[in-house]
Parts: sequence; C-alpha cells; structure tokens
Amino acid sequence: MDNHDLTDLQRLVLSRRRFIGTGALAGAALFLAGSPLGRTALANAISARPLLGFDNIAASTADTITLPPGYRFDVLISWGQPLHQDSAAYRGDGSNSAEEQLGQFGENNDGMSFFPWPGDANRALMAINNEYCNYPYLLAHGKPPQSLADVRKAQAAVGVTVIEVKRDADGAWQFVQGSAYNRRIHANLPMEISGPARGHASMKTAADPAGIEVLGTFQNCANGMTPWGTYLTCEENFNNYFGTTTGSDQRNDAQKRYGLSGTTTGYGWEQVVERFDYVKEPNESNRFGWIVEIDPFAPNATPRKRTALGRFKHENAAYALTADKRIVVYSGDDQANDYMYKFVSDRAYVEGGDNSALLDSGRLYVAKFKDGAASGDFMGDGEWLLLDKTANPVLAADSRFANQAEVLINARLAADAVGATPMDRPEWVTVHPTTGEVYVTLTNNSGRSTTDDANPRPSNRYGQIVRWREAGGNPAATTFEWDIFVLAGNPIKYTDRADLKSGSANVTVDNTFNSPDGLGFDPDGRLWIQTDGNYSNAGEYEGQGNNQMLCADPASKEIRRFFVGPKECEVTGLTFTPDRRTLFINIQHPGEGGDSHWPEGGNALPRSATVVITKNDGGVIGS
Ligand code: FEO
Ligand code: CA
Ligand code: CA
Ligand code: CA
Repeated sequence: MDNHDLTDLQRLVLSRRRFIGTGALAGAALFLAGSPLGRTALANAISARPLLGFDNIAASTADTITLPPGYRFDVLISWGQPLHQDSAAYRGDGSNSAEEQLGQFGENNDGMSFFPWPGDANRALMAINNEYCNYPYLLAHGKPPQSLADVRKAQAAVGVTVIEVKRDADGAWQFVQGSAYNRRIHANLPMEISGPARGHASMKTAADPAGIEVLGTFQNCANGMTPWGTYLTCEENFNNYFGTTTGSDQRNDAQKRYGLSGTTTGYGWEQVVERFDYVKEPNESNRFGWIVEIDPFAPNATPRKRTALGRFKHENAAYALTADKRIVVYSGDDQANDYMYKFVSDRAYVEGGDNSALLDSGRLYVAKFKDGAASGDFMGDGEWLLLDKTANPVLAADSRFANQAEVLINARLAADAVGATPMDRPEWVTVHPTTGEVYVTLTNNSGRSTTDDANPRPSNRYGQIVRWREAGGNPAATTFEWDIFVLAGNPIKYTDRADLKSGSANVTVDNTFNSPDGLGFDPDGRLWIQTDGNYSNAGEYEGQGNNQMLCADPASKEIRRFFVGPKECEVTGLTFTPDRRTLFINIQHPGEGGDSHWPEGGNALPRSATVVITKNDGGVIGS
C-alpha cells in the first residue's frame, strides 16, 4: 500500500512535533488549557489541506448509525449470514443448529483486516474476528448453554471468519457467498502450537500428549496483519471459559493471576466439555491467550499459535519494521493494572521470501512508563524490560520459571517480577504510518487508586490515549519518550476544566466520549478512535450518547466525532481499502441489554454486523 500522500510539509510538521511537544509545551497547565503554539504553528501550517475534512457530528442515542453529511453506510455481512452456497439460512430466532452455525458468519465481530487481492483491485479477502456470544440471541431459549448442543453452537459462532469481497460495477464492496475462501475458524478447529512453548510440559494434555496441537481459538478480540500478508488474531478473555465442576476453588497462583474462574463460569463450557475444567485438565488453559497467525489465502492451512509473543489477554497486534527489517509486534494486555508488551524478531522479513518462522523466535519486552524529569505533566520516559530467562538476572534467579517457555506461558508473572508499569487496561495499539510514533488506548480503570503520569486519575472512568517515541526512531530500542495524547473526560458533567475528569483540552462538550478502545491510523495519518464504554448518556456519561468513532489529527490534537453506533453496541474493528475510499467497521453486540433491533429494525433480533462506509462523492474517508 503506497498511498501515503502526506505533503512534505505535513511530514515535516509531524516529525518536528515531538521536539515541540516534549519541550516548550511541557506542563500540566498547558496540557489542560490547550497549546496555542500547537494550534497556530502546527495546525495552521497544514491548513492548506486539513487532515480532517468533515464536521463534528452530535452525540446520539438513536438505534441507528449516524455519519457526517455526505457519507453513507451499508451492511456488508451480519451474524448468521450463510457463507457457502449450501449453508442454512439465518432463521432470526436463535434456532439454527451448531452444524448450521459452522456455515454461517460468526457472532460479535471485532477486529478485522482487509487483504487486497494480488493483481485484482476489485477483489479482496477479509478476516474478521468473532469475539464471543450473546446467549440471549444465539440460543432460542435465551439462557446460557443448557446442553452440549448449546455449547457446540457457541463454539461454532466464535473465532474468526474469512470472507471474500468484491467491488461491483457501482464501486460498492459486496460479500461473495459461496467463495472457496470463505471459512469459519472456530473453537474446535485444530491448530498448531509453534515457537518456544511448542511441546513444553505445561502445554501437554490428555488429548495432546505431545503439546503441539490445540483445538480452536476463542475470545478473538482485535487483530493485526503482517507485512507478508497474513492475519494475526488475538486471544483476549480466554480465562472466562475455564472453571471447574468440582465445586471447590483449586486454582494455582498462575491460574489466579490469569483470572480463571475458581468454580463455575458464566459461559458454562466446563459443565459439558472436560477440557474446560481446569481440575480435570490443568494445562488446557495454557494453550489459550496467544496470538494466532492465519493465512487467509490458504483456506486449508492450519492456524499457528505463536508462543514467542507471550501469553496474556492480547488485545491487538500492531507491527513496525526496524531498519534491518526485523519485525516488532506491539500488544497490550487488557486487564486493569496489566501491561504493554512488544516482541522483536530475531530474523529479518524478506519481501517475497518465506517468513513463516519469523514470529517463532525473538525477544519479548514489557514496558515501564516513568514520570521523567517532572511529575504531574503527563509525560515522561520509559524502558522496555526484557522477559528472558537467561539474559534478565531477575528471571534467571526466579525458580518459578524453569526455562524461557515458562516465562512465555506465564508472561504476566514474569512481567510482575521485573517491575512493569500497571496500566489502565491497554486496548489497541497503532503505529503512525510515517513517524513510527506508537499510540495505545487505555480504556478505563475504575479500580485505580495510586496514580502516575501515564495513568493519572484514580477511579478512571473515561480512559486516555498514551503515545510514545522509540529512542532513535528504532522500534527495537529499549528506551522511549511518551506523553498523553488525550485524557478522555466529560466537560458537560465537569465544567471546571482544571478538573481532570473534564478531560484534556482537546476534549470538548461537542466531542466528549468515554472508554477509547479500537484505534488505528489510516495511511494518511488520521487517527481513528472507537469506543466501547458506558452508553447510559446519564450521570458521569451525560451527553456522550451511544458508542462512537472519532478521528484525530495527531499534529494539532484536534478530535472530531465521525460516527455514532446503534443502541447498546460497541464500535470496533477498522480497516480500509488501499485507496482509503472505503472504510469497514464492526458493530458488536447491538442491544446487549435488550434495547435494539439493529440493523433490521421492527421486532427483529439485533445482529452484530460489518458495515461499509463510503463518501457519496467517492472521496477519501475523513478528507
Ligand atoms: Fe475485547 Fe479489550 O476488548
Ligand atoms: Ca512527567
Ligand atoms: Ca476491544
Ligand atoms: Ca469489548
């Protein structure tokens, strides 16, 4: 994708911003009051062609999608839609069987990637995560699973769906039912364990005594893609499926740290499938919480769990390349007071070569965010701490980790031991397409008590976006500088702008939001922010409406609301066509509380769906 048409001036401004931002503009007062220099010297410098070309839209509580004038949306595919020519139709009442669900689009679509077809601009594949299930809609009785058949249906509805899409004569992208590439990757599909933990004692189970093959993937939250054209799907809240029927809490320290249920789970899989009972099969949960690599162009290929990237509740996976073409993969662990990680491969990416083992060997680091020269100024410096059994003396001396495989399987415990910084729930990470600056959403952390510059509010309801610059512009560097890009808040509820709950200066009564989650740059450098937060529109969240998507200019820090989703949904997943004239996003769990009939309206059950956004004049989205 070579559509980076930033002007030279924009590039200059973006690359210079780091020096201005961390020097002359330092200080909490300027952070909160806004930065006049930033707005005039930077924003005006690129005003000849502003990055944000649409007007901010109002918050909404309507059961529909709202966009700026001049934009439209169409539904590409919805939960239950048949994938193959002989797949059963979606019946709209939860009565489709597990077998039928295996031939239909999965539920609760989340992160996704668009894979252009080599040599054909009108054809593409998409890989779309299906994170978990809404039992009130998935199952006809509307309750959690009551039988093995119910669990099998849930297992058939999660994971990843690969679909083919094509551009029709009118320029609109459509789903291609019956494509040989359409595929459900679900919770019972065999996949290979690769990397340092492959065959390790802690990965062996009764069904897989060699510790090399696991059945399925689930809780596939967000995603990434590699420069060699494969898909990375991230296993997030896998712990929610592991409990026990024994009635007593028998978890070990690691199982507690990873949040397995002491007894029964809300999902109920452990009641009818033995491998989800951690007492009966203690190692099965070690085989989840990984990043899984999938080749969408090879529909019969076995997905691979890449253990070198560590085991935790991976939110997404964003890559950067070093000057010598090693791949760096950033990934956050979405749990209150958990950490930010990065993987640096040993070997270099070879364009057009065999990169299939690139994610199997490398170094895993965890981040320490420090306050820096001053406290209270929302910026500082940081260090990447190496999680290596032999090279890190702390881990070398820790008998809980017999070897590197144990460090990777229990990455959270290793990160605790080396002193990583507990963050306000790291969600998506994204890398600026030209500056290499890395941004992460910290969605919220109502339980925070002690604060620091990167996580500056106790009982953090609204979340923030932190960004960092690797030393020397080298993604493999072990030190960095960081600052807060936006402190989300509610200036409608908190009118005193000195109150941190009102948010930073780039939060206004017109663009206020809570709980940033999905995050991604388009190739022009627009920063797209999606929310998965409180949609009550009341109290602390007064005036914020339904979950939404906003767009920010990383240089001026201006943020405008671009999109509002239907009731009780999360807005997530974003991927562009290479020409940036089509944007795909996901509406997840509309009506999770029972108050939506989107997208069909009337009395229909709500359905998670992938939506296509276009501009009526065919222009670049956001321009
Ligand atoms: Fe599945 Fe952290 O969101
Ligand atoms: Ca500081
Ligand atoms: Ca998320
Ligand atoms: Ca979510």
